[in-house]
Amino acid sequence: MKVNGTHYRSLWWNTDLEALEIIDQRSLPYEFKTQSVNTMEEYAAAIVEMRVRGAPLIGATAAYAMALAMKLDPSDANIDKAWDYFHETRPTAINLRWALNRSKALLLPLSPDQRAAAALQLAHEIADEDVDINAAIGRNGMALIKEIAATKKPGEPVNVLTHCNAGWLATVDWGTATSPVYHAHNAGIAVHVWVDETRPRNQGALTSWELGSHGVPHTYIVDNAGGHLMQHGLVDLVIVGTDRTTNRGDVCNKIGTYLKALAAQDNNVPFYVALPSPTIDWTIADGVADIPIEERDAHETSHIQGTLPDGTLQSVKVTPDGTPSGNPAFDVTPNRLVTGLITERGICPASEQGLREMFPELASKAGGV
Ligand code: MRU
Repeated sequence: MKVNGTHYRSLWWNTDLEALEIIDQRSLPYEFKTQSVNTMEEYAAAIVEMRVRGAPLIGATAAYAMALAMKLDPSDANIDKAWDYFHETRPTAINLRWALNRSKALLLPLSPDQRAAAALQLAHEIADEDVDINAAIGRNGMALIKEIAATKKPGEPVNVLTHCNAGWLATVDWGTATSPVYHAHNAGIAVHVWVDETRPRNQGALTSWELGSHGVPHTYIVDNAGGHLMQHGLVDLVIVGTDRTTNRGDVCNKIGTYLKALAAQDNNVPFYVALPSPTIDWTIADGVADIPIEERDAHETSHIQGTLPDGTLQSVKVTPDGTPSGNPAFDVTPNRLVTGLITERGICPASEQGLREMFPELASKAGGV
């Protein structure tokens, strides 16, 4: 998508430096900073510190990280070592394991001298595929927005509520939950987005930055406002992303998503999840029982970051001294609360049958990822 008129992906390969270029998302929305990543430690830190974040982008980054590992040491032992090293960076988004497994499966049968080039080629393919998948999700999800738009008075926007940043910054391009919005906006359909702040990391500010850069009308709201807006008929549909969706359609996404789903059900607001197929964990059914939920540093909860009027970035404490803070980063929305899954192949019910019919070849593969 565009930043100040220039098209960017959220990562790209720098052939001269033989390094990955990323956008340091910790600086957004205040400053647009890019940086090169070219050591194992820098790759791990980029994921852990959320310079890159969002399930699909974490997966693509991990694929490039494996390419670096193979350049440094293409042995069988190092495939496993690098897999373990990067797999530990963040526990919830399944795209990380998906990309590492895909890389490992490609590399093991190759001779060591072929591995670095093959891993890099695969990383490029994963990045390109992600763009295609998200564009298809956008086209499929736009149909929902179009249907609602047809019931509106001329010029009246379709109001979409989203949580976290499931935008182009969280993927390689387009985003998942935001892709239908961008497609609708580009097609001339009036759309307005309620953007949840998404404490504690305030990914809503990233979503607002993205939407603003693309000219999409939007309003930033505190996380607790969604239910109230739904009660007053101000939300036509909810679209969120996912970090891991189980084989029966339970959805794990940024903390607070579950509460939005509950409020949506109580108010008969459709609740859709934009789901790229690499985000399906075919090995588990019960998301609440089996998805590992990342517990992040309590400092993220006890402090809040923003800019002073002169633009200086400042972090301030919001809790009393001595108050312990907790910071679970994700929660699980059971499939019964999900109206449908917007995938690259179409929209399906959040159920085992729905996913199996949409992706029969993936469902039948043992383990799937
Ligand atoms: O902790 P984050 O910012 O990596 O969490 C991101 C999300 O929860 C997104 O909604 C999810 O990865 C879907 S991104 C297309």
